Amino acid sequence: MTNDRVLTVVEELERTLVEFIRTHRITHAEYRSATDLLVAEVQAGEGSLLFDVFLEAAATDMDNHGREGSIEAIEGPFYLPGAPWLDGPPYVLTQRPDEAGIPLVFHGRISTERGDPLADVELDLWQADTHGQYSQIHPGIPEWNLRGRFRTDGQGHFAVRTIAPPPYEIPKDGPTGTVLSALGRHFFRPAHLHLKLRHDYFGERTSQLYFPAGEYLDSDVANAVRTELVLETTLVEDPERIAHQGLGQAFVDARYDFAFAPTGAVPGA
Ligand SMILES: [Fe+2]
Repeated sequence: MTNDRVLTVVEELERTLVEFIRTHRITHAEYRSATDLLVAEVQAGEGSLLFDVFLEAAATDMDNHGREGSIEAIEGPFYLPGAPWLDGPPYVLTQRPDEAGIPLVFHGRISTERGDPLADVELDLWQADTHGQYSQIHPGIPEWNLRGRFRTDGQGHFAVRTIAPPPYEIPKDGPTGTVLSALGRHFFRPAHLHLKLRHDYFGERTSQLYFPAGEYLDSDVANAVRTELVLETTLVEDPERIAHQGLGQAFVDARYDFAFAPTGAVPGA
């Protein structure tokens, strides 16, 4: 049986690409270079990276269109399911005893689109270390480092202590890097936290939060920054607040509040 959605989308894509070949007078050699590049991307394990860099943000924008409440963001290629639950509260993201980086306290509130608090929301957080690398993706990092799950309390509040991630370059030595170099683009993503949030009320949502005034906010290689996804941050130097967090140095306080309507809800209904 024919799937109507597949028929519509694939036939339109085929028409668009055929028209593209005619418009740009693509030669057979250029066509074969393109297919060879896609094969090389897959062989290098970069199939997802290539599409995520160029197209994922556009698809996420489509999901966000007309939705009430917080917008979603790109997932990127480095998410791993099954991260360990953190002990707490208070929660500290799994890290090495000498984890480098400025301490970060990330907190906020999660509510329905009407402002009612959502208790026991699962937050699944993953981020880069101070070298811009992810556990289980880059070598030499302990398993599940800077990855973990925790929950909101009865009033919908959450808080977790971690370290502030830096901007980082996406892998540039493979075929995706070759394409970006040919376009004269840099390889940087601005500093960010990745999150998945889960609750019976809204299902599963994916977020990615950025730091205000950070480098590459306006030239993200993945073109995924949206103003609604920027954290509120302050540098805390007050000795009492530093001691309250069990820290011995100034830290970054980062706040973000989420509000979600149920999946499938009609805006304004
Ligand atoms: Fe990332």
